Amino acid sequence: MKNEETERPSAMKVRQGIQDAMTYSLPDKKFSEKNIDLVEINIELDDLGWNFHNFRILNLTDIHLGQWINPEYLSDLIDYVNTLNIDLITLTGDYFSYIIEGYEKSLEDSFKKLKARYGKFGVLGNHDHWMNAEKIRKIFKNSGVIDLSNDVFTLKKNEDYLNICGVDSYTVCEDDLDKVIAKLPRGIPTILLAHEPDFAKESSQTGLFDLQISGHSHGGQFIIPKFETTPFRGPNSTKYPVGLYKVNDMIQYTSKGLGTNSFRIRINCKPEITIITLKSSKKHKIKIE
Ligand SMILES: [Fe+2]
Repeated sequence: MKNEETERPSAMKVRQGIQDAMTYSLPDKKFSEKNIDLVEINIELDDLGWNFHNFRILNLTDIHLGQWINPEYLSDLIDYVNTLNIDLITLTGDYFSYIIEGYEKSLEDSFKKLKARYGKFGVLGNHDHWMNAEKIRKIFKNSGVIDLSNDVFTLKKNEDYLNICGVDSYTVCEDDLDKVIAKLPRGIPTILLAHEPDFAKESSQTGLFDLQISGHSHGGQFIIPKFETTPFRGPNSTKYPVGLYKVNDMIQYTSKGLGTNSFRIRINCKPEITIITLKSSKKHKIKIE
């Protein structure tokens, strides 16, 4: 719980001005699934019970509503997500950029619409704290999103269990992994939501998490063709800026996210919706009557 960028950025008014200029000077973006990178990955977990085999988790992150993504775009995107037959939705932070006023209801209405059989779970990002963490927690509550800031939720499917847990933003020193560990039922496959991907350095050392899902980097808003990585790496996304990594025994997945920060540009780096399908490595026991 230490870090170089804990303070709300200075010159907030300048950043808000840039956001306004970007929002009003460029034509509105309309949502189209053709312009989305729907990334589908399979993750095999050693102790995953057969009841969670093929369990589909969809992650949305870094919406930065009001900066590139407008309320109509988000609403259409959520309608598209609702067609994808998802078991669980995860939200990994930065719902706003530098302006929250005028966008709160749109975010709440969109999150209310999100459908998943086993629920919607979220954590906050650094921008959410810089804007107003309490307002965002209220949006979560009103829209049925379970707030996993330094918390744990255990899912049960027949005789099998899966832990979904989360840490609050590392950038603003609100992460409390000890609190998560104290609440964590042991011996169950465990997924951690952490806005900042480089938190994997810390979480992986515990040996308690199988998979960490993150955003924050936006893929640098530029992916080098053929190399599938980015040279533009901000604080807390320097080590694991985009895609899949193995960190100690933990799998780290970093999404390119949906929105943009500061500059409304993405080069070879489409907005991303991620679907993670969990696979059990256990052999299926067939009951013979
Ligand atoms: Fe962030």
